[in-house]
Amino acid sequence: MKITEKIDEIRNIVSEWRAAGLSVGLVPTMGFLHEGHKSLIERAVSSNDRVIVSDFVNPMQFGPSEDLGSYPRDLDQDEKLCESAGADVIFHPAPSEMYNDDFSSFVDMTTLTGGLCGRTRPIHFRGVCTVITKLLNITTPDRAYFGQKDAQQLAVIMHMVSDLNFDTEIIGCPSIREADGLAKSSRNTYLSANERAAATILSKALGEGRAMLGSAVTSGSPVTADAITATIRKVIESEPLAKIDYVEAVSWPGLEPIETADGPLLCAVAVYIGKTRLIDNFISE
Ligand code: PAJ
Repeated sequence: MKITEKIDEIRNIVSEWRAAGLSVGLVPTMGFLHEGHKSLIERAVSSNDRVIVSDFVNPMQFGPSEDLGSYPRDLDQDEKLCESAGADVIFHPAPSEMYNDDFSSFVDMTTLTGGLCGRTRPIHFRGVCTVITKLLNITTPDRAYFGQKDAQQLAVIMHMVSDLNFDTEIIGCPSIREADGLAKSSRNTYLSANERAAATILSKALGEGRAMLGSAVTSGSPVTADAITATIRKVIESEPLAKIDYVEAVSWPGLEPIETADGPLLCAVAVYIGKTRLIDNFISE
């Protein structure tokens, strides 16, 4: 498994692939890879001749009081997982390789980023859009793969790629979960044993919300978005270690407020379990 830290080198590798007529897939990650990332890599391997995994904890998308310093890292483990999933190269730049001292150009979005996670993380999506723009420009992939686990991020990237005419197809991939329903996340490692047990409340609550939506569809009498979010809130509030950041149902993929849950929608939650902020969602198309 090749690991490169240099932009010039990954560009040269891609040029050689292009000269040989090979297609290229990109899986952007912040490392500490788990089965969720692996599913994206495997999907990329199944439909591209060559696959790059970027492994870069992007400082620009962390707020001043967030977990940039403590974000888990393990390149050796990441290398093993990438190898087993069939990726070809890991692009692992240092922050200084990505951001010069005089770096001053950003990609921002005036829609989609104000609500949901954008409310508590006001600079987050500017950092995500900027780094993904750079990664797409550096690697020029045919396809790039993102998880529905970070549904707002997926919607934002799809919108950005359309607005700015990137020649890359964005592929959304389903959320991979632990056996008890908890969505896999690098941040799950922050949880104590008690917190880990409590964290299943997110998927349980979303499951009840989805069931409510399902019976409304079956009975033909639409339910309101408020009724769904109220049901979800109630379940989460039954867990003493959980503190809700938000529970929202919005249109998908436009992320607009909705009254009635009768079209494609995203139902998303962000919940603190102790000090760890976890997110989860379901999308109903
Ligand atoms: P990271 O959190 O490492 O996630 C990388 C990709 O893996 C994202 O597209 C995310 O949605 C996906 N992913 C994470 N957990 C998943 C799960 N349980 N099932 C399926 N997919 C999952 O998201 C980021 O990094 C960064 O913001 C990034 C896009 C790399 C920009 O820095």
